[in-house]
Amino acid sequence: MREPYRMEGLPERVTVYEVGPRDGLQNEAAVVPVAVKAEFVARLAAAGHTVIEATSFVHPRWVPQLADAAELLTVMERVPGVRYPVLVPNERGLDRALEHGVTEIAIFGSATETFAAKNLNRTLESQFEMFAPVVARALEHGLKVRAYVSMCFGDPWEGPTPIAQVAEVGRRLLDLGCHELSLGDTIGVGTPGHVSALIDAFGGPDRLAVHFHDTYGQALANTLAALRAGVTVVDASTGGIGGCPYAESATGNLATEDLVWMLHGLGVETGLDLPALVETSTWLAARLGRPSPSRVVQALSPRKQAP
Ligand code: HMG
Ligand code: MG
Repeated sequence: MREPYRMEGLPERVTVYEVGPRDGLQNEAAVVPVAVKAEFVARLAAAGHTVIEATSFVHPRWVPQLADAAELLTVMERVPGVRYPVLVPNERGLDRALEHGVTEIAIFGSATETFAAKNLNRTLESQFEMFAPVVARALEHGLKVRAYVSMCFGDPWEGPTPIAQVAEVGRRLLDLGCHELSLGDTIGVGTPGHVSALIDAFGGPDRLAVHFHDTYGQALANTLAALRAGVTVVDASTGGIGGCPYAESATGNLATEDLVWMLHGLGVETGLDLPALVETSTWLAARLGRPSPSRVVQALSPRKQAP
């Protein structure tokens, strides 16, 4: 075990919000068998995760990889104390989630007009009409609701997204009654100063989480900026897999192992077992038929031990 070197101004503990089974797998072309998905989720819980985004109740034709959401929830083991949120875009998705005993959902809005059309088949304005009854009914059923806002730093069609536009969309999503808003850098173009400026535009880190894709190699630096601004919930994906099928150039998420290496090196607690995470990524990579993109997994998997 290496000695941590602390830095001023960081939280003592961070919750890693694991999106591997949802964001990680949704971009995989070859359908992963449901038994593999269930084992994946079980391994993540065994490695110490307390929040695992399990799947999506979106239209099955839009994301065929996650068309087995109902089946997964039927077969998957649920460990007490672990949260298993699922993505839900509309009331049809909420009905399906409720039928399968879901206790936490995530809606996903867009900060830009073009991505709202491409990802949700809605305008920027009409996305709120779709989400409002979902959140209202979910809260009536006692569910927790997270919101994402995508394309926070830039959009492949519209270029850089104005900060005021992101803050307005994000604030409206929170005001529906969501307990948390995850700021999505869907195409990975953000840089650390931009992250701080965006958090400032929300008036500080209250109820904010961050969701960085690593397309431009900025995800860890951006995470550090968010932590210094007071954010304590960070989204990440096993081995750095993932991306959005409806966003050109949206490649892998921040890898959970890379994040955990940095956090533990800084003395920030996560409750996660890094060797078990690396082993899970190595196991998953064999099932997906290619090596994990995570630098930490690549460095540790042959020996499975920190130097
Ligand atoms: P639509 O075509 O406008 O849907 O799609 P509709 O409301 O017009 O309904 C058409 C038909 O679809 C109806 O059936 C509905 O019942 C059915 P019909 O009456 O014709 O027989 N339908 C559904 N069936 C099952 N489950 C449902 C559902 N909804 C409608 N939930 C819709 C609108 C939102 C459904 C569609 O655009 C969609 O599914 N989009 C999801 C796209 C997606 O999953 N993208 C990836 C996730 S977002 C992401 O990755 C970003 C994130 O990671 C953060 C970041 O990185 O920034 C979160
Ligand atoms: Mg994403």
